[in-house]
Amino acid sequence: MEYVKLHNTDLKISRLIFGCEPLGGTDWGKIDENLLEKAINQAINLGINCFDVADVYGLGRAEERLSQILGPKRHDSVIISKFGVNWEKPIGKARAKTFLDCSPKRVVNALENSLKRLKLDCISVYLIHWPDPKTPIQETLEALLQCQTEGKIRYFGVSNFPLTLLQEAHQNISIPIVELQYNLIDRSPEQHLLNYSQQEKINVLGYGALAQGLLTGKFNSDTRFEKDDRRHRLPNFRPDVLGKNLQIIDKLKILGQRHGKTPSQVAIRWILDNPSISATIVGAKNPQQITNNVGALDWQLTDEELMELN
Ligand SMILES: NC(=O)c1ccc[n+]([C@@H]2O[C@H](COP(=O)([O-])OP(=O)(O)OC[C@H]3O[C@@H](n4cnc5c(N)ncnc54)[C@H](OP(=O)(O)O)[C@@H]3O)[C@@H](O)[C@H]2O)c1
Repeated sequence: MEYVKLHNTDLKISRLIFGCEPLGGTDWGKIDENLLEKAINQAINLGINCFDVADVYGLGRAEERLSQILGPKRHDSVIISKFGVNWEKPIGKARAKTFLDCSPKRVVNALENSLKRLKLDCISVYLIHWPDPKTPIQETLEALLQCQTEGKIRYFGVSNFPLTLLQEAHQNISIPIVELQYNLIDRSPEQHLLNYSQQEKINVLGYGALAQGLLTGKFNSDTRFEKDDRRHRLPNFRPDVLGKNLQIIDKLKILGQRHGKTPSQVAIRWILDNPSISATIVGAKNPQQITNNVGALDWQLTDEELMELN
């Protein structure tokens, strides 16, 4: 396993972070809870010590399940949780109606609920999940600072922030951690945010390393997703876009063959070889997937290979 000490923190985390959204049980297709639990235990056996979750994943269920599965190990793990996407309880099987709320009142309330569900007194990393245009960022940050002073969170940070908002936030209160989508298909952070974060020593955690599984190479233009799997509505999986996205798989296969690696392992390695990226979050639904993904660690692509992929 590769570990990284996050700048301006005392956290040392595995460069592969386990993404816990499927623990919520909704919008990720069919989930075998037993296999998912085994995947988390396998992740721990392989040296992963960091888990990414959010209050809204399964409307609290993902945090509860993570806490149950980790048991006492939750105290030795680095748990990243998020708030800011609030919800109304759904009626029947309908998807919950969500709305952004990063007001100071919500910070306090969401944090208390997450601490209860995770059965912790303090969350290692607490992130603003998405920016809330109705709440001035300064108000949210001051509420977070207060929670930090009270010992309920060790570090706070932001997720899915545009550069201008990150700069505004970081100007007054130092932001140590940023989470954003970054993979071979979505490289938009390269245009602005990665340079700034590197310059300011802000730790960047990427998510969507496999572009929701697309970069594994297991899908083709005939693949169709069920209505309970978000991929049925994601633009990258639209039949007209999917064909173009799949072209990259051929390149990943060729590079992978040289190193005895799978396309997924090359796709994750490409992210980790970027010096602006501290660690990347990857989802896995069974032990085989997480074992395969960990094969992305402890080797490197050559400069020529990185150039080929770029
Ligand atoms: N901050 C945010 O706003 C935000 C947003 C989204 C996600 N996240 C975090 O990132 C995590 C990962 O989600 P993501 O959207 O980013 O997905 P991802 O990691 O790109 O893809 C994960 C999915 O790909 C498939 N997969 C993974 N490894 C595989 C392997 N070795 N072989 C074959 N298939 C494999 C699995 O689904 P199938 O088996 O069903 O194909 C898995 O659920 C989430 O759980 C969450 O923690 C954060």
